[in-house]
Amino acid sequence: MRKITVGNFRLDKTERDYIEEIMDSNWISEGKFVRRFEEEWAKYIGTKFSVVTNSGTSALIAAIFAVKHKYGIKDGSKVLTTPLTYNATVNAIVHNRLEPAFADIRMDNYCIDADKMAEFFEKNPDTKLTVPVHLMGFTADMDSINAMAKKYGCRVIEDAAESNGSVYKGKMAGSLSDASIFSFYVSHNIQAGELGAINTSDREIMELVKRIKVNGEMIDDESRAEGNCELRFKHDLIGYNFKAMEFQAAFALAQIKKAGLILKKRQENVRVLNDGLRKYDHILQLPEHSGNYSYLAYPLLIKKPQAISRKKLTVELEKRGIQTRPLFHCIPTRQPAYMHMKKQYERKLPNAEYASDNGFYIGVHQFLSGEDVDYVVKSFREVLPK
Ligand SMILES: Cc1ncc(COP(=O)(O)O)c(C=O)c1O
Repeated sequence: MRKITVGNFRLDKTERDYIEEIMDSNWISEGKFVRRFEEEWAKYIGTKFSVVTNSGTSALIAAIFAVKHKYGIKDGSKVLTTPLTYNATVNAIVHNRLEPAFADIRMDNYCIDADKMAEFFEKNPDTKLTVPVHLMGFTADMDSINAMAKKYGCRVIEDAAESNGSVYKGKMAGSLSDASIFSFYVSHNIQAGELGAINTSDREIMELVKRIKVNGEMIDDESRAEGNCELRFKHDLIGYNFKAMEFQAAFALAQIKKAGLILKKRQENVRVLNDGLRKYDHILQLPEHSGNYSYLAYPLLIKKPQAISRKKLTVELEKRGIQTRPLFHCIPTRQPAYMHMKKQYERKLPNAEYASDNGFYIGVHQFLSGEDVDYVVKSFREVLPK
């Protein structure tokens, strides 16, 4: 039976050559490849700086830490974010001793709804930070978000973990706020296994995250380069070890060059799937097709659960070798770790709750062949009611 996985990973010659170069150099912790990737990734996204961390989650923790520190945001302050995201977004807020607060999502792209954010800001005008997420490669409405942030003196961190290479109104997702974060987890569009990055054009934020990721060490690049060891092992921030390995940076570096092709192939797969499933769009909400989106996967929403339930559809697809994943879970009302918020938010985030109960995704990655994609369409046709 065919296997249609959510993600896949294959090594090309460039990756293999880079790995050999690292082994021959006898230097495997952060070094030349991490620095080269940071330079290239900053250029690709269009920010002045990029700082690599060992995951997207650690990038988020460090970015929030830095912005909180720079702007003196107090412990316990509210951070407005989306209820429908991978848990890391909200965990990173909590780990920074801040309080996550939620505004509902839009149904068409699963990103936070700017109108709902406006209602929140009206009631909570002293909100100092918001973390919108570009989910599944779709882009959040950054113009409205930035206009609101400006009005209320609020900082913005884009969680672009799922949108490596998405474009919003001609600019790269992740270049539109104080700082942004990316994930190069193995199923994402640039695949390093485990790796993350913080991008910013703000020098102070860049310098802060560089120190946060080495346990808050005071030494800066200049002193390090000059061999001035006075500030070595002196720490004025209580940071973390979020440093990465050369291997992962080498994988990611090799893939920046192929990013255009990877994104195009994924967009093409979305187009073919949409064409094949169009006649079911009274049952399933298909993802918008656009050359601007860097599709993490192929998200679907069951519009008519009475016609077919998510459970029935996903079990039938899995039987046919097609991996499925739920479209995350509405964090404050569906995640066991956040049950203490359930009462406050239940039925107040109807779109996120609906997507959480009826949304799922399948793979759309660049390693799927034309026959694989046709097989997916055929499988849906077998399972969906006529
Ligand atoms: C929206 C979002 N934020 C953050 C992360 C965390 O990234 P990582 O898995 O690299 O820690 C992910 C991971 O997929 C994500 O989807």
